[in-house]
Amino acid sequence: MALPRLLILLIGFCGLSSGRSRAGPVPLVIWHGMGDSCCNPESMGYIKKLVEKKIPGIYVLSLKIGRTVIEDMENSFFLNVNDQVAFVCDKLAKDPQLQGGYNAMGFSQGGQFLRAVVQRCPSPPMINLISVGGQHQGVYGFPRCPGESSHLCDWIRKMLDIGAYAKPIQQRLVQAQYWHDPLNEEEYRKNSVFLADINQERCINKTYKTNLMSLKKFVMVRFLKDSMVDPPASEWFGYYRSGQAKETIPLNETALYKEDRLGLKEMDQGGKLVFLGAAGDHLQFSKEWFCENILPFLQ
Ligand SMILES: *[C@@H]1O[C@H](CO)[C@@H](O)[C@H](O)[C@H]1NC(C)=O
Ligand SMILES: *[C@@H]1O[C@H](CO)[C@@H](O)[C@H](O)[C@H]1NC(C)=O
Repeated sequence: MALPRLLILLIGFCGLSSGRSRAGPVPLVIWHGMGDSCCNPESMGYIKKLVEKKIPGIYVLSLKIGRTVIEDMENSFFLNVNDQVAFVCDKLAKDPQLQGGYNAMGFSQGGQFLRAVVQRCPSPPMINLISVGGQHQGVYGFPRCPGESSHLCDWIRKMLDIGAYAKPIQQRLVQAQYWHDPLNEEEYRKNSVFLADINQERCINKTYKTNLMSLKKFVMVRFLKDSMVDPPASEWFGYYRSGQAKETIPLNETALYKEDRLGLKEMDQGGKLVFLGAAGDHLQFSKEWFCENILPFLQ
């Protein structure tokens, strides 16, 4: 899931030698996490400024889903993800600055949402996808709630317990749309309106595979002490082994990979998948870590 704010340690050196020789920097599109918004100066606003400072001249679009910042935050809980993805695809297609291609960086649930964007909307082309704590195989649990949204989170947990796959909940609650119950894979496969679709659980859409494989790099950041995402393996596209909720398996042991339904195996063999580990809890990293590990993919 996501903290409402990134906890970025403001200390540390952030140096970068710009090695870019093309006409101008590749634009960047950012999608925030749950309970956050496009423009919070302590989270996405901070990241946008940092990137703009380190890569002079770059165009950074931090996505606002809705008309206002408040709507943007509410939509991260209550707007059907498929509609959100369609809204974003439309926005990107109409943005003249992105037509030559762009890099994308998603924080927490924004990571899997941007993967849906590349799979569904090849134009304009996404070049690198950076998922920072995204949950590519979903979640099974709602462990902790960020302070400000804690009432909301208590309510959401109750809804998920009542029935994440019940139609009214599935249609309206964002977190239900990437709820993945390993004890009940069949229900997940049948009823998940978002994640089961983009992970090709019901049928194989060749377009999804072709589009995902068109990425130059698919970078996945996992927080090595993550206490918010259950299981953290999902951040590297792994998950609970089916039928239980204790043991996890890495991506390369999943059926999705072995059957290569999404092209991930081929991408892996071609060196297109990058697995990064960050030492802290969910979405906690230093400026130094960000500069050293993430900025090179934005060049
Ligand atoms: C496959 O995905 C594309 C892109 O979202 C969509 O236009 C197409 O209708 C899908 N095809 C099937 C068979 O679902
Ligand atoms: C599968 O991935 C793990 C890391 O997640 C790696 O250590 C292992 O070597 C991989 N196995 C194969 C067969 O590539």
